[in-house]
Amino acid sequence: MSNYHIKHLEEYFQVYRKSVRNPEAFWEEVAEEHFVWLKKWDRVLDWDFTKPEIKWFEGAQLNITVNCIDRHRHIRGQKTAILFEPNDPNEEAEHITYNQLHERVCRMANVLKDKGIKKGDRVVIYLPMIPELAISVLACARIGAIHSVVFAGFSSTALATRINDCGAKMVLTSDGSYRGNKTIDLKAIVDEALNDCPDVETVLVAKRIDSKIKMKDGRDEWLQPLVDKAYADCVPEIMEAEDPLFILYTSGSTGKPKGMMHTTAGYMVYTAYTFKNVFQYREDDIYWCTADIGWITGHSYIVYGPLANGATTVMFEGVPSYPDFGRFWQIVEKHKINQFYTAPTAIRALAKENLDFVSKYDLSSLKVLGTVGEPINEEAWHWYNDHVGEKKSPIVDTWWQTETGGILISPIPFSTPTKPTYATLPMPGVQPALMDENGNEIKGNPADGRLCIKFPWPSIARTIWGNHQRYKDTYFSAFKNKYFTGDGALRDEVGYYRITGRVDDVIIVSGHNLGTAPIEDAINEHPAVAESAIVGFPHDVKGNALYGYVILKETGETRDRDNLRKEINQQISDKIGPIAKLNKIQFVPGLPKTRSGKIMRRILRKIASKDTSNLGDTSTLLNPEVVEQIMKEAL
Ligand code: WTA
Repeated sequence: MSNYHIKHLEEYFQVYRKSVRNPEAFWEEVAEEHFVWLKKWDRVLDWDFTKPEIKWFEGAQLNITVNCIDRHRHIRGQKTAILFEPNDPNEEAEHITYNQLHERVCRMANVLKDKGIKKGDRVVIYLPMIPELAISVLACARIGAIHSVVFAGFSSTALATRINDCGAKMVLTSDGSYRGNKTIDLKAIVDEALNDCPDVETVLVAKRIDSKIKMKDGRDEWLQPLVDKAYADCVPEIMEAEDPLFILYTSGSTGKPKGMMHTTAGYMVYTAYTFKNVFQYREDDIYWCTADIGWITGHSYIVYGPLANGATTVMFEGVPSYPDFGRFWQIVEKHKINQFYTAPTAIRALAKENLDFVSKYDLSSLKVLGTVGEPINEEAWHWYNDHVGEKKSPIVDTWWQTETGGILISPIPFSTPTKPTYATLPMPGVQPALMDENGNEIKGNPADGRLCIKFPWPSIARTIWGNHQRYKDTYFSAFKNKYFTGDGALRDEVGYYRITGRVDDVIIVSGHNLGTAPIEDAINEHPAVAESAIVGFPHDVKGNALYGYVILKETGETRDRDNLRKEINQQISDKIGPIAKLNKIQFVPGLPKTRSGKIMRRILRKIASKDTSNLGDTSTLLNPEVVEQIMKEAL
């Protein structure tokens, strides 16, 4: 039996039991067998959730890029490491082999060094999904600089906040980016941000769209000439196991984003391990995760996890709707993608369109389909399963967070029987607990509660950069000695977990706790509905009542609105009960979403409560224009 690669359900249970009985021995074996260390650890784990302090593989020395690149060169030097698919389908894809990746990362690392970047310095990366993005991330790791990637769709204000919070001396960016038929002037956004960032000394600019940009003397330089001149080899920095690898910002319940800090050894071991098992990657497979490297999904499952396994990982620059809604499937056919990993929001958007966009492509290469980021509703799950997976590719509904670094709950395909909307079972080494309101663990099945994790796993974030107290307060104070995820979950009779959504999305109506996700599921099952969001608003008798924002499919547009409202409420009544019926239903053209596809309920709540004087910061929304329209037509 191999701990590293689980191949059937019985093996999963054996490995899982072992991992819980003796987590140190389990992770030590994984770390020993599958990675290159300059020096082995003195101690596998040291932890105290009350401080909180977590250390994995203390005393060990390594460099993650040696594990992601160098060690593969003698066996797969000519194998494609990164397959870059450009925004424009007529531009040629680029295959970067492990040997070429080594050279490009080393050159970039030397450029950073020449510019004075040393181990521990922070470098902000604000680049589109072009090879330079992955290469910059790895170049930082090569020399021990701490990368902080800021999604290149964020505004200059959001960028400046992050640059200042982590104290970056350098920003890596490009002249601009392509998104569908649009171009975005990234450099201008950086210029704007840097008006408020006095500590940034250097800006290096990759050329992508060939636009005219301003270069500030003494601060800004084109990247490519420096790379061309740089030496093609770079000795990897010796890193301690717990040296910081990166900071990645995630939004919190207050305005200021949280800089989640991840460290080197544990993160590497866990992301590599979960990548192998959750996607069942085999040597010649082509794996594609559609996320942006600006999110944790891109860090862990485009860059580090796949490369640590010597995989071929696809980077896609474009969007699913350009040149048409068939783009994803055209790419699957073109590159014969074997594992495909995306977000439910993308699936729902594509499911609204004509089926021809899917059926005209040959998707027979697909073996595993993944989703991440939010609960996947039943209708989307079935559409994905029927039309993309053609009922033969298992769907892995992977639950995890920026804070967890890697996937914590997911089926292992071909082992764990899947169940729509269930993330199913914990990964080896992960010990979930469901807690009731009084802070007690709910034992036995079925159960419904707040999702906590009782024991550290190797890739848990170690702190919030510059604010350890906030880290403690946010994650370790709600439940004693447990990491609190902020999510609610239920566990069915066989122990499968279903994530029900953020617990802050619970609405109490007439004393009943109602989760928004199941109501939305019920609404979305109506044939005329594309997507919906529910929020609570104050009600004299019930305390709270429910307000539904509903996007119709094209087929629903012509229907009588009042009839539709009745049918939707009947549907909810049938699925959940009359208590969950909506007081108000507003048909909307879109929902305000964050750039990672999450519905901004805060804004919807305010509109429903007629409290629109201060909507807060809407600049980081994907579609700020939709807010105006919803407000105008509010009920
Ligand atoms: C939600 C993304 C249901 C959840 C990797 C979590 C999910 C938050 C799932 C973290 C899933 C993520 N099913 N909900 N499979 N995956 N979530 O930090 O609420 O962007 O707490 O990390 O997304 O979002 P983040």
